[in-house]
Parts: sequence; structure tokens; C-alpha cells
Amino acid sequence: MSASQKYFRRWFAWGTLMLVAGAAFLGAWPALSEAEPAPTSEENRELDRARREIRLLDDIYKTAIVLITKHYVKEDSDLAAGEAFKALFAGVKEKGWHEVRLLDATGESLNEANKPQDDFEKNAIKALLAGKTFYEEQSQENGKRYLRAATPIPIALEKCKMCHSNYREQKVIGALGYKLPLESNNAAR
Ligand code: HEC
Repeated sequence: MSASQKYFRRWFAWGTLMLVAGAAFLGAWPALSEAEPAPTSEENRELDRARREIRLLDDIYKTAIVLITKHYVKEDSDLAAGEAFKALFAGVKEKGWHEVRLLDATGESLNEANKPQDDFEKNAIKALLAGKTFYEEQSQENGKRYLRAATPIPIALEKCKMCHSNYREQKVIGALGYKLPLESNNAAR
């Protein structure tokens, strides 16, 4: 091997090494900055809080509807818990806290008004029928941000069929659709 060949080889080796090291450094750079825990933004905190609020409300509303149906609804002429809760939801909405809609997922609702209406409600019912247990979308109206979410309603009791003769084996027969304001200065807060 001539001296110039040796010289070339040495520099070729060094050059390759530097290139590899450089590429590794550049490659690692974004990974390093990604690994750094990003501080949770106010928006993300607000979203998490709204999701938690929806889960809490959902548990309370559904537990109460089932309890009332179980203990107070005896005949199909009695005031249905779902109907009573629609009155409660209207009151809560009027106070500016949040909105809740009782939705049908069977295509044969007792009340036409409970059919899914806008894109969110239609997408939500599709997702819940496909097995999702929580469906959400964010929306914006008049410059205000909202979290909309829906949770499934199962045939919780045999008694449900007393009035809903179309309820058979379908797992999800309805949903509660929520809409919560995301800005903390909204409404009654
Ligand atoms: C006493 C009769 C009665 C019983 C029992 C009853 N419901 Fe209903 N349900 C109604 C009526 C009436 C409506 C329509 C209320 C309205 O929109 O004002 C309704 C509405 C609904 C809706 C909205 C879709 C629709 O059909 O309009 C769902 C979902 C629902 N009920 C689920 C249930 C479940 C689950 C149970 C059992 C825990 C149950 N219901 C028990 C009478 C009943």
C-alpha cells in the first residue's frame, strides 16, 4: 500500500466515523427533546378536568336513573326516570353548567326528539354501538371551546322492557351525550 493510499484510508475512516457520530447526534437531538416531559398546557388540564367531570356526572345520573326505575317505577303509566331526568337536564342547562341529552341507539326511539341529531351525536352512536365506552369530540362555538362526549346506556334492568318493548339482546340501546364548556370563565363557574 502506498503512502497516499494509507493517508486516504485513514481520512476515509475518520470521515466515516465523524459522519456516523454526527448523524447519531442529530438523530438523537429531537428524541432528547421529546423525552423531556412537556409541561401540561392550561388547555390540556382543562380537557382532563372536563373528562373527569363527565365521568363523575355519568356515574351519578345513571346510578340515579336505575335506582328510581327499580324502586319507584311500577307500571308503564308511571313517570319514567329517563323522562324525569330530561327535566333535570333542562334545569342544569338553564343554569349554564352543562348540557346532557338522552339519546336513542336502536333506531326505534319512544320520542323522536331523542334520535341522534347532529354529526357528533351520529358519530357517537356509531362508535358506542361498535363497542367504544367513551366517545369525544372538541368543538368551538362563538369563540368558546367545548368538550362533547357520549357514554353508552345498556338495558340495565329487565324492567326497562316494560316500556321499551323493542329492547332485546342489543348491548347498547342508548347514550348520554354531554357538552361541557372548556373555558373556566364560562357560565356558572
Ligand atoms: C315507565 C316506562 C319506562 C321505563 C320503565 C323505562 N323507560 Fe326509557 N323511556 C320512557 C319514555 C316515555 C321515554 C321518552 C322520554 C322523553 O323523551 O320524554 C324513554 C326514553 C328512553 C331513552 C331515549 C330513547 C327513546 O326511546 O326515546 C332511553 C335510552 C331509555 N329510555 C332507556 C331506558 C332504560 C335503560 C330503562 C331501564 C333502566 C328505561 N328506559 C326504562 C319510558 C320508560
